[in-house]
Order: sequence, then C-alpha cells, then structure tokens
Amino acid sequence: MRVEPQKSILFVCLGNICRSPLAEGVFRDVLASRGLEHRFVLDSAGTGGWHAGSAPDPRSVEIAARHGIDISSQQARKVALDDFSRFDLILGMDRSNVADLKAAAPHEARERIHLFLEFAGDRGREVPDPYYGGAEGFASVYRMIRDASEAIATRLDGRVAASESGHASSTT
Ligand code: 4NP
Repeated sequence: MRVEPQKSILFVCLGNICRSPLAEGVFRDVLASRGLEHRFVLDSAGTGGWHAGSAPDPRSVEIAARHGIDISSQQARKVALDDFSRFDLILGMDRSNVADLKAAAPHEARERIHLFLEFAGDRGREVPDPYYGGAEGFASVYRMIRDASEAIATRLDGRVAASESGHASSTT
C-alpha cells in the first residue's frame, strides 16, 4: 500500500478564538471539497494564552456555520515550543503574529513561518483582528481566509504531487 506524504500546518493569531480557528476550519473544508484532507494535519494556536481552553468566539462560530462549517468544538491554546518542530508550515494572520512567532522560534524553524495572505500570493496584506469590531468584520475576515485557503491548497497540492513524482517544486 502506498503511503501518501502528509503536510502539517499550524494557523496562528493572537487569541486563537477569532481568526486562526476560522482559518483551520475553512482550510479543512477546502481540503475536504478537493478530497485532500488525508494529506494534511491542521491545527491552530494563539501567541497569547488568555483564552486557552475556550471555544472560538461566537461570531467566528456563526460566520463559519453560515457557510456550513462547524468550528464550535475547537479549543484555544497557546503556541508551544514543540509546535516549531511539529509543523511544516506556520502561518500567522498578521505581521505582529509573524514577528512574535519568529522571536519565539528556534533559528532553524524561522523559514517555515509566513504571513498567511502572503503565502497565498496576496502580497502585503494581513488578516485584521476583528475582535473589537462587528459582524461585518468577521464576514470580511471569512472571505479573506476563504480565498487564501483556496490559493494555498492549490499551491500545496501541486507541491505534494511534485514530491510524490520525485520532482523538486519551485514554489518554496
Ligand atoms: P484573534 O482575536 O487573535 O483573531 O483570536 C483576538 C481575540 C482576543 C483578543 C485579541 C484578539 N484579546 O485581546 O483578548
């Protein structure tokens, strides 16, 4: 039996209750729609630990549910040191998340840390923190995450396929 390679991705924001749980749920949904979920291990975490153990913010749960995605059983946690060795790719939602991750990461892990939208090919933009805003902020964050997740799934699917066939990928 052929064992297909797996790729692991950690989505990171500040509190792990608004953006990164949504990114985990949406990315999982994008993978499922393409029949790729068995190829990826996904998780999310926050650079801060204030909400550790909490379910996602109700506004993230609501916008996900409106698109048929259930993220209500996720539990917030803080980024841990072993995340930097466990995950192939660590994607921060905004520049301060990326800066905090790079400051905490062992040197050899830093190249695996990227700005989520930049990794999706959307240069220079961040997923803004919607925590202090209204429902429209969550709808806009959902759309950014959805578009970026589609782009990243396409990029990584090509890369997994290339590594299976023994060709180096030029997308790294
Ligand atoms: P998140 O949003 O980083 O997208 O989960 C936030 C959630 C909570 C706080 C800040 C941002 N907070 O300050 O408690």
